[in-house]
Amino acid sequence: MSALPTRIEKEAGRPLTPLQIFDITAARETTLSRLLMLYISTGLLFMLLPGTFLGVWNLLAISSRHAADSVSAGWIQAHGHAQIFGWIGTFILGIGFYSIPKLRRLNSFALSVVRSSWALWTTGVTLRWLTNVYQWQWRTLLPLSAALELAAFAIFFRTVSGHRPQDSDKSKLEEWVLVVIAGSVGLLLTLLVNFGITLVLAIRGTSPEIPAEFDQRFLVLQTWGFLVPFVWGFSAKWLPVFLGLRPVRGRALLLAVGINFAGVLIASAGWMMTASLVLVAGLITAVYSLRLLESTARPAKVKGVHTSFPVFVRLAYIWALVAGVLGIWAASVQNSHGIWGASRHALTVGFLATMVFAIGQRVLPAFSGMRLLFSTKLMFVATVFLAIGCLLRVSSEILAYQGLVRSAWSWLPVSAITEMTAVTLFAVNLLATFARRPPSTLS
Ligand code: HEM
Repeated sequence: MSALPTRIEKEAGRPLTPLQIFDITAARETTLSRLLMLYISTGLLFMLLPGTFLGVWNLLAISSRHAADSVSAGWIQAHGHAQIFGWIGTFILGIGFYSIPKLRRLNSFALSVVRSSWALWTTGVTLRWLTNVYQWQWRTLLPLSAALELAAFAIFFRTVSGHRPQDSDKSKLEEWVLVVIAGSVGLLLTLLVNFGITLVLAIRGTSPEIPAEFDQRFLVLQTWGFLVPFVWGFSAKWLPVFLGLRPVRGRALLLAVGINFAGVLIASAGWMMTASLVLVAGLITAVYSLRLLESTARPAKVKGVHTSFPVFVRLAYIWALVAGVLGIWAASVQNSHGIWGASRHALTVGFLATMVFAIGQRVLPAFSGMRLLFSTKLMFVATVFLAIGCLLRVSSEILAYQGLVRSAWSWLPVSAITEMTAVTLFAVNLLATFARRPPSTLS
């Protein structure tokens, strides 16, 4: 009796030998790895030039004039958008597409959706940056950039939601998947609000800059509502294995996500004090559910990365707590521009960027064709620079912007250069990893 044809045989329209099936499967895996490298390299480019370079430029201008409001809001928003959407957003979409099992069963024509989404997303984010910085034809280009980002996400969403678990036993989704879905909802909401505000600005605004008060609330949605749940989801999936943690407390994690969304909702109503308290409560619940600060069940798996990896992951979560506490402080005093800025960078650089440095350099080499990280020492140096830069930045921003210590204005440029060195080393390490030939092709 002949065996049932496999999906690949059905596609090919003829029976195939096991070797032929293996070759086709390997070729698809290679295509997906190349697509992932395209997304990650694009994200790195956004991080370096429109993101960090402009951020450093802004900070140098602010510190030379000793005035936080001396730089155009458009340039600051261009920097923030490039980092959140251009860097981390592009990474998330790339890893998301790579992780969908269905894509491994599609032929290369069907994989063109991944390229289309990349093209729309990249054009949208680039247009947004150019419009914020140069303001050319902004009434048309600003909403167009937001529409392109939404279209790219729609393709991603359609592809992901079309995926059904194959094994009926696994039809109940694991908690980390639910948390990643919550992050995707956060991203969708962020993109919808972004589209709405760019339309309003195009019709009634006097410039492409989002008004400060609205921007402050919108930033809570972008960071706590979109990026934070994604990092919690990926933490729940990978940290128990990589750090040897005890099993995640699933219900507590879902509760943390619920509390977090409540905090984002409260912030959107403008009640910043209550929102900050609720966000910290959500974060503490997440740390408890991930069991990050408890004794481990097994030794950490640090093969292929620097042995300091578990320390930096925990440090990242401590930065998130610092961000939350600074948020409470900022909400309780008048004229708290510097404290809000410090809180935001404790979250974006201290928590998010450190987690991307740690988890990214742990999983991306393997996803990109079972490569090995170019240098574990470079990983360590980059992460140490990031930690020092972040500490300098968060402390000097409070001391200088709040008028507490005058000499702190001169530390700000040092923090900017230290952080820029960190992200450059991180990019060099990943790009050098991608440039290496995968071990399977070495004779
Ligand atoms: C790498 C070094 C970085 C430097 C030198 C830098 C610099 C700056 C500066 C000067 C501002 C203006 C407000 C303020 O003074 O606090 C700012 C705002 C901001 N930054 Fe950064 N930044 C860096 C990294 C990052 C990263 C990694 C992210 C996100 C992942 C990020 C996201 C943001 C956001 C969202 C804003 C607020 C934008 C807005 O007001 O709409 N930054 N940054």
